[in-house]
Amino acid sequence: MDLGLEGKVALVAASSQGLGRAIAEELAAEGARVMISGRSEEKLARAVGEIRRSTGSEVDHRVADLTRAGEIEGLVAAAAERFGGVDVLVNNAGGPPAGGFDEVSDEDWAAAFELNLMSFVRLIRGVLPHMRARGGGRIVNVASSSIKQPIENLILSNTLRAGIAGLAKSLASELAPDGVLINTLGPGRILTDRSGALDAARAEALDIPVEQVRSEFAAGIPLGRYGTPEEFARFAVFLLSPANSYVTGQAVLADGGMVRAL
Ligand SMILES: NC(=O)c1ccc[n+]([C@@H]2O[C@H](COP(=O)([O-])OP(=O)(O)OC[C@H]3O[C@@H](n4cnc5c(N)ncnc54)[C@H](OP(=O)(O)O)[C@@H]3O)[C@@H](O)[C@H]2O)c1
Repeated sequence: MDLGLEGKVALVAASSQGLGRAIAEELAAEGARVMISGRSEEKLARAVGEIRRSTGSEVDHRVADLTRAGEIEGLVAAAAERFGGVDVLVNNAGGPPAGGFDEVSDEDWAAAFELNLMSFVRLIRGVLPHMRARGGGRIVNVASSSIKQPIENLILSNTLRAGIAGLAKSLASELAPDGVLINTLGPGRILTDRSGALDAARAEALDIPVEQVRSEFAAGIPLGRYGTPEEFARFAVFLLSPANSYVTGQAVLADGGMVRAL
Protein backbone atom coordinates (compact mmCIF):
# COMPACT_ATOMS: atom_id res chain seq x y z
CA MET A 1 0.00 0.00 0.00
CA ASP A 2 1.28 3.46 -0.89
CA LEU A 3 0.65 5.65 2.15
CA GLY A 4 0.96 8.82 0.06
CA LEU A 5 3.35 10.54 2.46
CA GLU A 6 6.06 11.32 -0.10
CA GLY A 7 6.88 15.04 0.12
CA LYS A 8 4.38 15.75 2.91
CA VAL A 9 5.56 17.99 5.75
CA ALA A 10 5.40 16.53 9.25
CA LEU A 11 5.95 18.28 12.56
CA VAL A 12 6.69 15.80 15.35
CA ALA A 13 6.76 17.21 18.88
CA ALA A 14 8.98 15.74 21.60
CA SER A 15 10.89 13.59 19.15
CA SER A 16 14.55 13.50 20.17
CA GLN A 17 14.03 9.93 21.46
CA GLY A 18 11.41 7.31 22.25
CA LEU A 19 8.00 7.20 20.57
CA GLY A 20 8.23 10.63 18.94
CA ARG A 21 11.62 9.85 17.45
CA ALA A 22 10.38 6.48 16.12
CA ILE A 23 7.36 8.14 14.46
CA ALA A 24 9.61 10.81 12.93
CA GLU A 25 11.89 8.13 11.50
CA GLU A 26 9.00 6.09 10.10
CA LEU A 27 7.50 9.23 8.48
CA ALA A 28 10.88 10.07 6.95
CA ALA A 29 11.19 6.50 5.69
CA GLU A 30 7.90 7.07 3.85
CA GLY A 31 9.40 10.14 2.15
CA ALA A 32 7.91 12.84 4.38
CA ARG A 33 9.95 15.95 5.22
CA VAL A 34 10.15 16.06 8.99
CA MET A 35 10.74 18.70 11.67
CA ILE A 36 11.68 17.14 15.00
CA SER A 37 11.77 18.90 18.34
CA GLY A 38 12.72 18.68 22.00
CA ARG A 39 14.64 20.69 24.60
CA SER A 40 18.16 19.38 23.93
CA GLU A 41 20.02 20.72 20.91
CA GLU A 42 22.59 17.95 21.24
CA LYS A 43 20.08 15.09 21.26
CA LEU A 44 18.14 16.63 18.37
CA ALA A 45 21.21 17.18 16.20
CA ARG A 46 22.22 13.56 16.76
CA ALA A 47 18.73 12.28 15.94
CA VAL A 48 18.54 14.39 12.77
CA GLY A 49 21.84 12.95 11.56
CA GLU A 50 20.78 9.38 12.27
CA ILE A 51 17.35 9.75 10.64
CA ARG A 52 18.82 11.44 7.56
CA ARG A 53 21.35 8.64 7.20
CA SER A 54 18.82 5.84 7.64
CA THR A 55 16.09 7.32 5.39
CA GLY A 56 17.72 9.80 2.99
CA SER A 57 14.84 12.18 3.66
CA GLU A 58 14.89 15.86 4.57
CA VAL A 59 14.86 16.20 8.35
CA ASP A 60 15.51 19.28 10.46
CA HIS A 61 15.14 20.22 14.10
CA ARG A 62 14.11 23.09 16.32
CA VAL A 63 14.69 23.36 20.05
CA ALA A 64 11.38 24.12 21.81
CA ASP A 65 10.17 23.64 25.37
CA LEU A 66 6.55 22.57 25.03
CA THR A 67 5.62 24.23 28.31
CA ARG A 68 6.28 27.65 26.69
CA ALA A 69 3.63 29.05 24.34
CA GLY A 70 6.11 31.28 22.51
CA GLU A 71 8.44 28.37 21.79
CA ILE A 72 5.56 26.35 20.37
CA GLU A 73 4.72 29.25 18.03
CA GLY A 74 8.37 29.36 17.00
CA LEU A 75 8.38 25.62 16.33
CA VAL A 76 5.35 25.76 14.03
CA ALA A 77 6.78 28.79 12.22
CA ALA A 78 10.13 27.04 11.79
CA ALA A 79 8.52 23.94 10.24
CA ALA A 80 6.37 26.03 7.91
CA GLU A 81 9.29 28.22 6.84
CA ARG A 82 11.70 25.34 6.36
CA PHE A 83 9.36 23.11 4.37
CA GLY A 84 6.65 25.47 3.05
CA GLY A 85 3.71 24.42 5.25
CA VAL A 86 2.53 21.64 7.53
CA ASP A 87 0.47 18.57 6.54
CA VAL A 88 0.99 16.31 9.53
CA LEU A 89 1.21 16.97 13.27
CA VAL A 90 2.27 14.50 15.92
CA ASN A 91 1.34 15.80 19.36
CA ASN A 92 3.63 14.25 21.92
CA ALA A 93 5.32 15.33 25.14
CA GLY A 94 7.31 13.94 28.03
CA GLY A 95 5.23 12.01 30.54
CA PRO A 96 4.10 13.65 33.79
CA PRO A 97 5.64 12.45 37.07
CA ALA A 98 4.29 9.30 38.71
CA GLY A 99 2.32 9.49 41.93
CA GLY A 100 -1.05 9.01 43.56
CA PHE A 101 -3.55 11.75 44.46
CA ASP A 102 -2.02 12.52 47.88
CA GLU A 103 1.45 12.98 46.42
CA VAL A 104 0.83 15.66 43.80
CA SER A 105 0.67 19.38 44.50
CA ASP A 106 -1.16 22.20 42.73
CA GLU A 107 2.16 22.99 41.02
CA ASP A 108 2.37 19.41 39.71
CA TRP A 109 -1.19 19.64 38.36
CA ALA A 110 -0.47 22.99 36.68
CA ALA A 111 2.78 21.74 35.14
CA ALA A 112 1.13 18.58 33.78
CA PHE A 113 -1.73 20.65 32.36
CA GLU A 114 0.73 22.89 30.49
CA LEU A 115 2.92 20.07 29.20
CA ASN A 116 0.42 17.31 28.55
CA LEU A 117 -2.72 19.16 27.46
CA MET A 118 -2.04 22.82 26.62
CA SER A 119 0.95 21.99 24.41
CA PHE A 120 -1.40 19.84 22.29
CA VAL A 121 -3.98 22.65 22.15
CA ARG A 122 -1.34 25.20 21.16
CA LEU A 123 0.28 23.02 18.51
CA ILE A 124 -3.07 22.24 16.93
CA ARG A 125 -3.96 25.94 16.95
CA GLY A 126 -0.60 26.70 15.33
CA VAL A 127 -0.77 24.17 12.50
CA LEU A 128 -4.43 24.58 11.57
CA PRO A 129 -3.99 27.64 9.31
CA HIS A 130 -1.32 25.69 7.39
CA MET A 131 -3.45 22.57 7.09
CA ARG A 132 -6.49 24.58 6.01
CA ALA A 133 -4.41 26.39 3.39
CA ARG A 134 -3.31 23.01 2.02
CA GLY A 135 -6.81 21.51 1.97
CA GLY A 136 -6.45 19.23 4.99
CA GLY A 137 -4.11 17.40 7.28
CA ARG A 138 -3.62 14.61 9.78
CA ILE A 139 -3.06 14.84 13.54
CA VAL A 140 -2.15 12.05 15.93
CA ASN A 141 -2.01 12.63 19.68
CA VAL A 142 0.27 10.35 21.66
CA ALA A 143 -1.49 9.70 24.97
CA SER A 144 -1.52 6.48 26.99
CA SER A 145 -3.50 3.30 27.55
CA SER A 146 -4.97 5.30 30.46
CA ILE A 147 -7.43 6.81 27.94
CA LYS A 148 -9.26 3.47 28.40
CA GLN A 149 -8.20 2.27 31.83
CA PRO A 150 -6.44 4.28 34.56
CA ILE A 151 -2.96 3.13 35.55
CA GLU A 152 -2.02 2.68 39.19
CA ASN A 153 0.04 5.53 40.68
CA LEU A 154 -0.26 7.80 37.62
CA ILE A 155 -3.00 10.23 38.65
CA LEU A 156 -1.69 13.08 36.50
CA SER A 157 -1.44 10.97 33.36
CA ASN A 158 -4.81 9.32 33.97
CA THR A 159 -6.52 12.71 34.22
CA LEU A 160 -4.76 14.68 31.49
CA ARG A 161 -4.88 11.90 28.86
CA ALA A 162 -8.65 11.72 29.20
CA GLY A 163 -8.66 15.43 28.34
CA ILE A 164 -6.67 14.74 25.18
CA ALA A 165 -9.16 12.09 24.08
CA GLY A 166 -12.05 14.49 24.71
CA LEU A 167 -10.32 17.27 22.81
CA ALA A 168 -9.66 15.04 19.82
CA LYS A 169 -13.17 13.65 19.73
CA SER A 170 -14.56 17.20 19.71
CA LEU A 171 -12.11 18.37 17.06
CA ALA A 172 -12.87 15.42 14.79
CA SER A 173 -16.27 17.02 14.15
CA GLU A 174 -15.09 20.62 14.10
CA LEU A 175 -12.22 19.94 11.70
CA ALA A 176 -13.80 17.39 9.37
CA PRO A 177 -15.10 20.10 6.99
CA ASP A 178 -11.48 21.28 6.63
CA GLY A 179 -10.25 17.79 5.73
CA VAL A 180 -8.30 17.49 8.99
CA LEU A 181 -8.47 14.02 10.58
CA ILE A 182 -7.41 13.64 14.22
CA ASN A 183 -6.92 10.52 16.33
CA THR A 184 -5.48 9.65 19.73
CA LEU A 185 -3.13 6.72 20.24
CA GLY A 186 -2.54 5.04 23.56
CA PRO A 187 0.75 3.25 24.01
CA GLY A 188 0.54 0.35 26.44
CA ARG A 189 4.02 -0.66 27.58
CA ILE A 190 6.57 0.26 24.95
CA LEU A 191 10.33 -0.06 25.47
CA THR A 192 11.59 3.51 25.90
CA ASP A 193 13.38 5.53 28.58
CA ARG A 194 9.97 6.53 29.99
CA SER A 195 8.76 2.97 30.58
CA GLY A 196 12.24 2.11 31.86
CA ALA A 197 12.07 4.92 34.43
CA LEU A 198 8.57 3.94 35.57
CA ASP A 199 9.62 0.29 35.90
CA ALA A 200 12.73 1.27 37.87
CA ALA A 201 10.64 3.43 40.23
CA ARG A 202 8.22 0.56 40.81
CA ALA A 203 11.08 -1.87 41.42
CA GLU A 204 12.53 0.50 44.02
CA ALA A 205 9.17 1.06 45.71
CA LEU A 206 8.49 -2.68 45.96
CA ASP A 207 12.15 -3.55 46.63
CA ILE A 208 12.22 -6.10 43.82
CA PRO A 209 14.49 -6.38 40.74
CA VAL A 210 13.41 -4.37 37.69
CA GLU A 211 13.46 -7.60 35.66
CA GLN A 212 10.71 -8.92 37.92
CA VAL A 213 8.63 -5.79 37.34
CA ARG A 214 9.06 -6.24 33.59
CA SER A 215 8.22 -9.94 33.58
CA GLU A 216 5.13 -9.35 35.72
CA PHE A 217 3.87 -6.64 33.37
CA ALA A 218 4.68 -8.78 30.33
CA ALA A 219 2.71 -11.67 31.84
CA GLY A 220 -0.37 -9.41 31.84
CA ILE A 221 -0.04 -8.63 28.14
CA PRO A 222 -1.70 -11.18 25.81
CA LEU A 223 1.16 -10.83 23.29
CA GLY A 224 3.50 -11.61 26.19
CA ARG A 225 5.98 -8.76 25.83
CA TYR A 226 6.50 -5.00 25.74
CA GLY A 227 6.12 -3.33 22.34
CA THR A 228 8.89 -1.59 20.44
CA PRO A 229 8.82 2.09 19.42
CA GLU A 230 8.90 0.96 15.78
CA GLU A 231 5.72 -1.10 16.23
CA PHE A 232 4.00 1.90 17.74
CA ALA A 233 5.29 4.20 14.99
CA ARG A 234 4.00 2.02 12.16
CA PHE A 235 0.51 2.21 13.65
CA ALA A 236 0.73 6.01 13.98
CA VAL A 237 2.05 6.53 10.48
CA PHE A 238 -0.95 4.95 8.78
CA LEU A 239 -3.28 7.27 10.70
CA LEU A 240 -1.06 10.22 9.72
CA SER A 241 -1.10 9.40 6.03
CA PRO A 242 -3.41 10.29 3.16
CA ALA A 243 -4.11 6.53 2.96
CA ASN A 244 -6.14 7.11 6.10
CA SER A 245 -9.12 8.89 4.61
CA TYR A 246 -11.93 7.68 6.91
CA VAL A 247 -10.60 7.18 10.44
CA THR A 248 -11.03 10.22 12.67
CA GLY A 249 -12.00 10.93 16.27
CA GLN A 250 -10.79 7.53 17.45
CA ALA A 251 -8.92 6.69 20.62
CA VAL A 252 -7.01 3.46 19.95
CA LEU A 253 -4.43 1.48 21.85
CA ALA A 254 -1.20 -0.15 20.78
CA ASP A 255 -0.83 -2.32 23.86
CA GLY A 256 -0.45 -5.95 22.80
CA GLY A 257 -3.97 -6.57 24.11
CA MET A 258 -3.10 -5.41 27.66
CA VAL A 259 -6.29 -3.42 28.37
CA ARG A 260 -9.28 -5.74 28.55
CA ALA A 261 -11.98 -3.06 28.19
CA LEU A 262 -14.16 -3.23 25.07
N1 LIG B 1 6.71 4.30 26.51
C1 LIG B 1 5.56 3.88 26.98
O1 LIG B 1 5.37 2.67 27.24
C2 LIG B 1 4.43 4.85 27.23
C3 LIG B 1 3.23 4.35 27.73
C4 LIG B 1 2.18 5.23 27.96
C5 LIG B 1 2.34 6.58 27.69
N2 LIG B 1 3.52 7.03 27.20
C6 LIG B 1 3.64 8.47 26.95
O2 LIG B 1 4.04 8.73 25.62
C7 LIG B 1 4.84 9.94 25.60
C8 LIG B 1 6.19 9.64 24.96
O3 LIG B 1 6.79 8.62 25.73
P1 LIG B 1 8.26 8.07 25.47
O4 LIG B 1 8.26 6.71 26.06
O5 LIG B 1 8.69 8.28 24.07
O6 LIG B 1 9.09 9.07 26.44
P2 LIG B 1 10.64 9.43 26.46
O7 LIG B 1 11.48 8.36 25.90
O8 LIG B 1 10.88 9.90 27.85
O9 LIG B 1 10.74 10.70 25.46
C9 LIG B 1 10.13 11.91 25.77
C10 LIG B 1 10.47 12.96 24.72
O10 LIG B 1 9.82 14.17 25.11
C11 LIG B 1 10.75 15.24 25.07
N3 LIG B 1 10.32 16.21 26.07
C12 LIG B 1 10.12 16.01 27.39
N4 LIG B 1 9.72 17.15 27.98
C13 LIG B 1 9.66 18.10 27.01
C14 LIG B 1 9.34 19.48 26.99
N5 LIG B 1 8.98 20.14 28.12
N6 LIG B 1 9.39 20.14 25.82
C15 LIG B 1 9.76 19.50 24.69
N7 LIG B 1 10.08 18.20 24.64
C16 LIG B 1 10.04 17.51 25.79
C17 LIG B 1 12.08 14.58 25.37
O11 LIG B 1 13.17 15.32 24.86
P3 LIG B 1 14.03 16.34 25.81
O12 LIG B 1 14.14 15.70 27.16
O13 LIG B 1 15.32 16.49 25.09
O14 LIG B 1 13.24 17.60 25.82
C18 LIG B 1 11.94 13.28 24.57
O15 LIG B 1 12.25 13.49 23.22
C19 LIG B 1 4.96 10.39 27.06
O16 LIG B 1 3.96 11.35 27.34
C20 LIG B 1 4.69 9.11 27.84
O17 LIG B 1 4.21 9.34 29.15
C21 LIG B 1 4.56 6.21 26.97
